[in-house]
Formats: sequence, structure tokens, C-alpha cells
Amino acid sequence: MMMQYLARLALGIFAIAGPALAAQVDILDLQDGDLVPGKYIVNLKPAVDIKAHLSWVRDVHKRSLDLCVTAGLEKTFSFAGFAGYAGEFDDDTIAKILADANVLSVEQDRVGRISALVQQGDAPWGLESISSRTPITDTNTRGHTYSYDSTAGSGTFAYVLDSGVLTNNTQFNGRAIKGYNAWNGTESFDDHFGHGTHVAGTIASETYGVAKQATVIDVKVVRSVGYSTLAHVIDGINWVVNNVTGTPGRAGKSVINMSLAFSTSTSLNRAVDAASASGILSVVGAGNDNALASTRSPASASTALTVGAVSANRTRAPFSNYGPEVDVFAPGVNVASLWNEEGAESVNSGTSMSSPHVAGLALYLKGLEDGLDSPAATIKRIKQLAQSDVVVDAGEGSPNLLAYNGITVPTY
Ligand SMILES: *[C@@H]1O[C@H](CO)[C@@H](O)[C@H](O)[C@H]1NC(C)=O
Ligand SMILES: *[C@@H]1O[C@H](CO)[C@@H](O)[C@H](O)[C@H]1NC(C)=O
Ligand SMILES: *[C@@H]1O[C@H](CO)[C@@H](O)[C@H](O)[C@H]1NC(C)=O
Ligand SMILES: *[C@@H]1O[C@H](CO)[C@@H](O)[C@H](O)[C@H]1NC(C)=O
Ligand SMILES: *[C@@H]1O[C@H](CO)[C@@H](O)[C@H](O)[C@H]1NC(C)=O
Repeated sequence: MMMQYLARLALGIFAIAGPALAAQVDILDLQDGDLVPGKYIVNLKPAVDIKAHLSWVRDVHKRSLDLCVTAGLEKTFSFAGFAGYAGEFDDDTIAKILADANVLSVEQDRVGRISALVQQGDAPWGLESISSRTPITDTNTRGHTYSYDSTAGSGTFAYVLDSGVLTNNTQFNGRAIKGYNAWNGTESFDDHFGHGTHVAGTIASETYGVAKQATVIDVKVVRSVGYSTLAHVIDGINWVVNNVTGTPGRAGKSVINMSLAFSTSTSLNRAVDAASASGILSVVGAGNDNALASTRSPASASTALTVGAVSANRTRAPFSNYGPEVDVFAPGVNVASLWNEEGAESVNSGTSMSSPHVAGLALYLKGLEDGLDSPAATIKRIKQLAQSDVVVDAGEGSPNLLAYNGITVPTY
């Protein structure tokens, strides 16, 4: 190996090899949607002997000219019939992988970014919206009434795939725990951004949460300023599905929450569908492009519960994606929740904010009602309870449905 290395130096191959530069690229220098140079996600056919294939890959990589500058295999995925891996490979190696009969598809890795649009100063009107048939007239962010059953999602689990969660925030009363850090080795297992804590706050915190008794499990797939890649998100899903399926009875009581949006990715959609096949529901934001949700992943995964955003006046947010891939709308403009410091509050807008309302609602209903163990049954129940024909400008092809917990408040 060393000899090969020296020979290559002598030939000056180092200077011209594309992936040599690729290795220096930091995703923080890339834009949303950019391809990550030299990095790939490989999907394997079902029933392939993964160990044998990976050892073949290691072998091919070892023989590659760019051995010294490409990292090779970086992450492996195996859950619920989804098998594959991610890594950095030179053109030659990736061509050999692509030609292998065990390989289903190869997709170049891509950068995705969280977009929480606005930050302003001060109660979450969204909690009133999902628990009242009466339209909200007072659009103050706080000072609203939330009506819910006291079970409040007890015995359920929200796997929050985001920038990390300030799990020791007193607002979680010990119900938030650390799960997995897909950026281990690059960044500490803390929420350096705030977004993940905001999302977790809307799902389960005492003041801002929909399901105030649910447990949050922090799965960090996003780096500090809001960036991630397909490989890191699929790595997070891989951990979640193995964690959930390793605990009997957990699947029917869990949701995965993801507010990231990538342009449509077969690998990511396939991962979400595989998680669903193993009984785990993914609740995802429709995306913030004022475009068809079918252009984004995971929003376009057929088994995801995809959520668009409305303002307090029930008008679709001008940024919210729409179309037949959307399942339901929920509050996503001026949503107050936690941030990454004890005691802090932040008001944000985005389908990242509408999706946790529905993730929380899914957990609330799973905790309250029987028969909602499967993703399909949960999606059906949420659509059945939703208020119809109240969303203004739902967008072409969208269902006109506003998330609602079905609560009946006695009137005196
Ligand atoms: C909570 O966790 C954060 C991040 O790890 C840490 O900085 C902070 O000191 C912790 N707070 C308490 C009260 O332990
Ligand atoms: C799932 O993750 C939690 C939190 O990290 C851990 O305590 C638990 O042991 C894991 N369960 C399995 C089956 O891996
Ligand atoms: C991070 O990696 C180290 C070394 O491999 C390991 O010991 C540790 O458990 C990992 N931490 C997380 C949160 O995955
Ligand atoms: C609904 O509220 C949004 C702001 O949240 C505002 O921009 C829009 O004009 C309002 N629409 C109507 C019909 O009042
Ligand atoms: C998942 O997290 C994203 C933000 O990362 C958020 O927009 C979305 O609402 C969350 N969904 C659930 C079900 O928690």
C-alpha cells in the first residue's frame, strides 16, 4: 500500500485527481442542493449478502488509484429491508460499484438546509388552532387556550432528527434523552443552532408542546448552522429504525420528525418508506419553496405524513409547499417555542414548525386511542379528524384539511 502511495506521488497523480480536492470540501461551504464532490449513497438490492458486498467494496477501494485521498466506506445502512452504504469513492471505484449486480442504485450525496424563515420577539396560537373549531381572531403569538386530553402522549416517543436538542431544558422535565449523533467526530452532541430544540419544544415541552407527556429522543443529523447531507439523514433513520425495532412495542408508539428538505432523493424516500414498512411513521414538513411538495424529499416519500403550513387566519403561508403530496396543514407562521438556552423563547415560521404540531398530534392520538399503531392508520385518523374546507389558498392539488385533535370542550 505504501509503495502504491509513493508511486502515485512520483507520478504527480495527487495534483490532478478530482477527489483529492473533494476531500477538502467542507459541506458548510456548499449551498443547499449542491452535490457533495466524490460522495455517494449506494442502495443494495433486497436479499443481498451485505457483509460480502462490503468486503468486495473495501477491496475495490483498496486497489483504487485515489486510495490515499478518498475515504472509502463511511456509513453503512441496514434496517427494515433497506440496505446500503455511503462513502467517498473515486470515479473508477464508483463505476465498478454501479456495474455490480447487487447494486440497486447509486445517488451522489447532496446538501440540504433547514429553513426556519423568521425570528421575532414573543404563545403559541398553534396549540389553540389544533384544538378548536372556532377560527382564531386574536393573532397574538401567545395568550391562547389549548384544550387536550390529560394523557398528552404519555408512553409515546418522538425521534427528532434535527440539529440536536437541549435535552436538559427544564421544560422537558427529564423526558428528553440523547439518542445518536450522526456528526460524531465532527461536532459535539449539543444543539448549536436552536432549531432542534424549537421543534422538540413544539412536540413535547411543558409550555409549547402538543404532547406534553411524550418522550423526545435526540438524533442529531444537522450541523450547527442548519446543514446536513443525505448520508447523515439516512444514517439517523438507520439508527432510529434499529433502536425502535430493538424495543418490543415501540414502533406503534413512535414518530420520526424531520424538517429537512432536499430536492427529491430516491435513497431518502426509500429509507422513509422502509421505516414505515417496519411500523414507524415519519412526519415531515412539506418544504418552504411555495412549490409542489413532490419536488422535495422526504416530503415526497409516499408513506410520510407531509405537513403544509398556515397562518393563524388559516391562510396557507406564502412559503408553504402544496399539492397532492401534502396530507394536512398545521400552524407554521410565528410559532413560539424553545431555543437552545434554558429560558429562551424563539418565534419561527416554516413547515419545520407545522410538522412538529402534527408529530405531536400523532403521539397525542397514539397515547389516547387504540388501533393507531400503524403509520397508515395514524395518517388516516389525522385526516379524518382534520377540519375540512377551512384553509384559504390551500394551493393546487392540496387537500383542504387543517390539523385538529377532535377535542370537545364543554360550553357553559
Ligand atoms: C445543559 O446542557 C448544556 C449543553 O450540553 C450545558 O451547556 C449546560 O450546562 C447544561 N445545563 C445544566 C443545568 O446542566
Ligand atoms: C435506544 O436508544 C436509547 C437512547 O439512546 C437507549 O437507551 C436504548 O438502549 C436503545 N435501545 C436499543 C434497543 O437499542
Ligand atoms: C462517538 O464516537 C465515539 C468513538 O467512536 C464513541 O465512543 C461514542 O459512543 C460516540 N458517541 C455517540 C453519541 O454516538
Ligand atoms: C393572514 O395572515 C398573514 C400573516 O400571518 C397575512 O399576511 C395575510 O394577509 C392574512 N390573510 C388574510 C386573508 O387576512
Ligand atoms: C420534525 O422536525 C422538523 C424540524 O427539524 C419540524 O419542522 C417538524 O415539525 C418536526 N416534526 C415532528 C413530527 O416532530
